[in-house]
Amino acid sequence: MRICVCVSGGGTNLQAIYDAMDDGRIKNAEIVRVISNNPGAYALERAKAHGSEAVCISPKTFPDREAFNEALLAGIKECNPELVVLAGFLVNVPACVIREFKNRIINIHPSLIPSFCGKGYYGLKVHEGVLARGVKVTGATVHFVDEGIDTGRIIAQKAVDVCEGDTPEILQKRVMEQAEWIILPDTVSKIAAGEIKIGE
Ligand code: GAR
Repeated sequence: MRICVCVSGGGTNLQAIYDAMDDGRIKNAEIVRVISNNPGAYALERAKAHGSEAVCISPKTFPDREAFNEALLAGIKECNPELVVLAGFLVNVPACVIREFKNRIINIHPSLIPSFCGKGYYGLKVHEGVLARGVKVTGATVHFVDEGIDTGRIIAQKAVDVCEGDTPEILQKRVMEQAEWIILPDTVSKIAAGEIKIGE
């Protein structure tokens, strides 16, 4: 299965997929291209180290959003992926991409959707919201991407405890370790094995 991964930052979720490929938890899959909107993303270094094509498509290098959206679509189409994984991709995926890859795009979100998701909830902001509200359990969700923000069909979720004294950073790390880095590779593995159907 050819996979294109879209990233914006550190790329620890990308790394979790590579690790699962290296130790055989994910079989019959290859990351053919990693696309970042951010030229400084460390995720691009991880991609090169693993022999994937690493490409930056930054909105700042295009005259307007429409041109960026077209370039992003072209950049994904070019590598001919069967699956597109948003692994910390902090860009609103344009409708043209969602239409072209209907039910073939999955996203990892660092909360238990439908809590702490939608507009404005990304990265650390999610964990800030969790702590401000005082919930005792949070987690992560893998879902298909549709034209809404974090509204697509849910594939997998895993709960994580919020602990006394947590900061957003501490909580983010726990959610990554105990949920994100487990359910994202696991979902990719099940898709590659045909246990979860895509494109339907
Ligand atoms: C992850 O926590 C991911 O769930 C989150 O960004 C972080 C990226 O970390 N994604 C979102 O908030 C999407 N709405 P990473 O670059 O180390 O994988």
